[in-house]
Amino acid sequence: CGIVGYIGFRSAKEVLLKSLKRLEYRGYDSAGVAIVNGKINIAKKKGYIDSLEFGFDGTLGIGHTRWATHGVPEDRNAHPFLDCKGDIAIVHNGIIENYMVLKEELVNRGHKFTSDTDSEVIAHLIEEYYQGDFKEAFLKAVRELKGSFAIVAINKNERKIMAAKKDSPLVIGVGDHENFVASDIPAFLEYTNRVIVMKDGEISELTDDIVHFYDFNGRNIEKKNVEIINWSIEDAEKSGYPHFMLKEIFEQPRALDSTLHSLLSRNDMDFDFERVTIVACGTSYHAGLVGKYLIEELLQIPVDVYYASEYRYRPDVVEDSLAIFITQSGETADTIAAARKAKVSGNETLAITNVVGSSITSYVDRVLYTNAGPEIGVAATKTFTAQLLALEYFAIRAGESMGKLSVSQVRNFINSLRKIPLYVENTLNLNDIIEKEAKKIYKNKDMFFIGRSMNYPIALEGALKMKEISYIHAEGYPAGELKHGPLALIEEGIPVIALVPEDITYDKMLSNIKEVSARNAYVIGVSSNMDVGKYVDTLIKVPETELYLSPFVNVVVLQLLAYHAARLLGRDIDKPRNLAKSVTVE
Ligand code: G6P
Repeated sequence: CGIVGYIGFRSAKEVLLKSLKRLEYRGYDSAGVAIVNGKINIAKKKGYIDSLEFGFDGTLGIGHTRWATHGVPEDRNAHPFLDCKGDIAIVHNGIIENYMVLKEELVNRGHKFTSDTDSEVIAHLIEEYYQGDFKEAFLKAVRELKGSFAIVAINKNERKIMAAKKDSPLVIGVGDHENFVASDIPAFLEYTNRVIVMKDGEISELTDDIVHFYDFNGRNIEKKNVEIINWSIEDAEKSGYPHFMLKEIFEQPRALDSTLHSLLSRNDMDFDFERVTIVACGTSYHAGLVGKYLIEELLQIPVDVYYASEYRYRPDVVEDSLAIFITQSGETADTIAAARKAKVSGNETLAITNVVGSSITSYVDRVLYTNAGPEIGVAATKTFTAQLLALEYFAIRAGESMGKLSVSQVRNFINSLRKIPLYVENTLNLNDIIEKEAKKIYKNKDMFFIGRSMNYPIALEGALKMKEISYIHAEGYPAGELKHGPLALIEEGIPVIALVPEDITYDKMLSNIKEVSARNAYVIGVSSNMDVGKYVDTLIKVPETELYLSPFVNVVVLQLLAYHAARLLGRDIDKPRNLAKSVTVE
């Protein structure tokens, strides 16, 4: 989510709407503003910021652009939220972990809630403590909150903005007779380039002319550095990365961490089925293929994976099957059509999606959310690894509820999932090495990506990433199949990227590498085993992981390889030709 606050002399309406537009990359399923003008005026709505229309204005206000995590995107769940009297308004980014307890207490004390969100408790909590001093009430309320939050609040009686930060970003923009607060710098960069970054555990109090800082106990914090920003708004939106795709690749440790946290809070993971059918398109289909290996391995039951556009031509086979639909956007028309068909045929259905309340969620029995945050780059990256994580988690919990995994196995598996963000982080450190490899291969017209077992779909995904953003012809192949045809295409210098995890495929992969080396291909090995270096032209040495986690590190290497090749070719990386982020036609 993106939040903003403005106090000064300009039209708050204009400043807030412009600022929110700049933060739209942080979420765009609903938007709202509150502006003080004698009373607090509020306008909020499901949908894009552009659809927000209102007549009121003033010189003090707050705004929010939402990416739903609690409560579906609906007008009533949009921020800002008011207290009962309508005197206090707040916007929030993050998750209030103890909101249920707080809400219950507040309801018992007579507070009336209007939304399903965790955020609304903040407004009521401030109201509960308000006795004529807004700052005091705000401090008391913040001290009660557990979880992660960036909060910006106003009240109708005192001309000031209060803000608090813990584990969600918040920055102050310092102006002349005006001040700004926002989730990110682009929100106000048009008005000021003087920035103070808030740290965790800090409160700020903004008036027209001054900004004070306190800790959560109300003690003054002196000496905050004012930084001068000299990047453009566009650079700033991408946090300094040249493309959203690169930013999103680098966001993966955080995206995986928050996906795991949201999955761990689920207590409805009981399943019972004898077969699984997975249906998806594009990158999500590749996640499904990895899921097949995982589920078959952990649950020892058969799994079929279909392209959504093909599933629909399948005859209606009645079976005791769970049908899983994987779709980042939740809006892909083929996947939705397939989900409807599966339901009609009597299957139990589950969707894995990144968008709360997206269309797919209304066609299935259950939903598992990835919590990767909005993905702007057309080529999926962080949502893919989040989908892999969701599938791993699903397989473990299904194994537990169906009695196929012991308590200690489940514990061990879950503990290893916690290491994934770090494995990915360590793989991102290979960026420079991967860029050097991209420089060696980007002028080629064709390339091959090979892998076996769980890394065969990763080879497919690596080839897809390369095709869609660099426009280089790339083929992903199960390494063992090369000799049944594609080997005829191997000539001197053609890049072959080989995924060589230290699992049962290791020796066979080395044999396949020898086959292509003998034809003078340029072989890049991706492995945690240094020995592989003896068989390839270059080894990209990835972190060692538990056996079934190698797809996470390998795919990150391939995402970066495709990214750098596309950049060297000067492609429009975030918006590749002929492609769309979400395809809503069948
Ligand atoms: C489009 C995108 C792909 C994506 C596919 C499926 O083709 O360009 O990156 O993998 O749709 O999208 P979904 O939202 O269903 O995961």
